[in-house]
Amino acid sequence: MTETMKNRIEEIVEQSCAADTNIFGYDIWTHHILPVIQNAKQLAPRFDADPEIVELAALLHDYASIKDKALYEDHHIHGPIEAEKLLKRFSYPKEKTEAVKDAIATHRASVRVEHRSAEGACLANADAMSHIEHVPSLLYLAYIHHGMGIDEGKTWVKTKLQRSWQKLRKDVQDIVRGDYEAALKVL
Ligand SMILES: [Fe+2]
Ligand SMILES: [Fe+2]
Repeated sequence: MTETMKNRIEEIVEQSCAADTNIFGYDIWTHHILPVIQNAKQLAPRFDADPEIVELAALLHDYASIKDKALYEDHHIHGPIEAEKLLKRFSYPKEKTEAVKDAIATHRASVRVEHRSAEGACLANADAMSHIEHVPSLLYLAYIHHGMGIDEGKTWVKTKLQRSWQKLRKDVQDIVRGDYEAALKVL
């Protein structure tokens, strides 16, 4: 992947985050997508994952739900389709495109965990790690986005954090253990 291609795809995803149609607000770019990219790059060597694949997969993992809220429920299915369309425009090699798509398809806790590639496992851990590192984003989602009351929102965030924690590999849990325990104490 050339630097130009990377910059161009970043621009496209950032613009979709800034669009009025994005129900999560622009913050999802700064407080979720960028941290997931950072985490994925940091974790890649631990997972023996291809750094280019995990970077692209992290950049595009929630793109479908950002573009169109109707795709949120099944964004692990629509994500790979959107990624393929985008990567095709840059004539990205077929084999690498498949690896990116596969990582996106398995990034959620509930989905095809047993078939995860190294890149898929790396992305899933990077995604879950970012939830634990960015608790205010989850609180924002609960109270502002979902309009929950204090207790309802608290329980929702706590459950989401516990799910994210369960998703982490043991050595990744150790990286964010302090943040996780502090968050649980507050909640
Ligand atoms: Fe996601
Ligand atoms: Fe995500």
